[in-house]
Amino acid sequence: AALAAPAFAQGAFPTRTITMVVPFAAGGPTDTVARLIAQAMSTNLGQTVVVENVGGAGGTLGAQRTAQARPDGYNVLMHHIGMATIPTLYRRLAYDPINGFETIGLVTEVPMTLVGRNALPAQNMQELVALVKREGEKLNYANAGIGAASHLCGLLLMQAMGTRMTTVPYRGTGPAMNDLLAGTVDLMCDQTTNTTEQIKAGGIRAFAVTTSDRLESLPDLPTAAQGGLPGFEVSVWHGLYAPKGTPAPIITRLNQALVAALQDPNVGTRFAALGTAPVPVARATPAAHREFWQADIAKWRPLIQAAGQYAD
Ligand code: MLT
Repeated sequence: AALAAPAFAQGAFPTRTITMVVPFAAGGPTDTVARLIAQAMSTNLGQTVVVENVGGAGGTLGAQRTAQARPDGYNVLMHHIGMATIPTLYRRLAYDPINGFETIGLVTEVPMTLVGRNALPAQNMQELVALVKREGEKLNYANAGIGAASHLCGLLLMQAMGTRMTTVPYRGTGPAMNDLLAGTVDLMCDQTTNTTEQIKAGGIRAFAVTTSDRLESLPDLPTAAQGGLPGFEVSVWHGLYAPKGTPAPIITRLNQALVAALQDPNVGTRFAALGTAPVPVARATPAAHREFWQADIAKWRPLIQAAGQYAD
């Protein structure tokens, strides 16, 4: 019989459905970014890119799934700043959080907003800081587990206020948002992709944005610095990964599809409505992504260690 065709015949990839793992629950900000990108990549690749939500343990279970998947181009991971904080936050993992992946490219940077349930007895950032300092652990802060962007933002917030709150972990800030809307959890720091529409609809109360400048999409919302918490800045970058060992020509083809998605007018329009934007194409290369990611691991390590008492 003729020798089996090589696993990857140049130019043949992809010949079947690709799985994009999202390491948080459906309906959250990472899921929102992933589904928009997956749909646009499908068009470019001529094959379906199906999103699979693998939540839990602050996004490490989903990352593990991809690190242990076949490096054949049919398994990719949409992850975010957690890939830079997890190596510091976790001493032991069932996968290599740094060397277990190939980078495909950066996707977007998403601002965060500090939001609360509508009936919380604080009308603005100044009153919120006083409330947290007074109530401390009587307040419940929602996050998506240790390693989530919502966890990192909470850690920085508690450190900036010198006060611990009680953290309530969810499998994603999509489910957490439901409890915030219901008033059964008090506070959350989450990405504008998940909070902008709820803020505008009046379902939750917004206190600040965590970027150095105000957002066009939420012009009335002060920055954390303007609200009295200078230096409290964090925004959530997203990147696309493949398992270590995925052949370079496949990474190149996946990167081409990612770049096409980032340039897709519908993606740009949807991201703008959600307070964000695709990264410039120069940042959407495998090398630029890896360089940025490595630098961010080094940036957050001392900051997380300094805030360690608020890290669980
Ligand atoms: C997080 O890191 O908080 C996640 O983005 C939440 C999510 O996507 O569900």
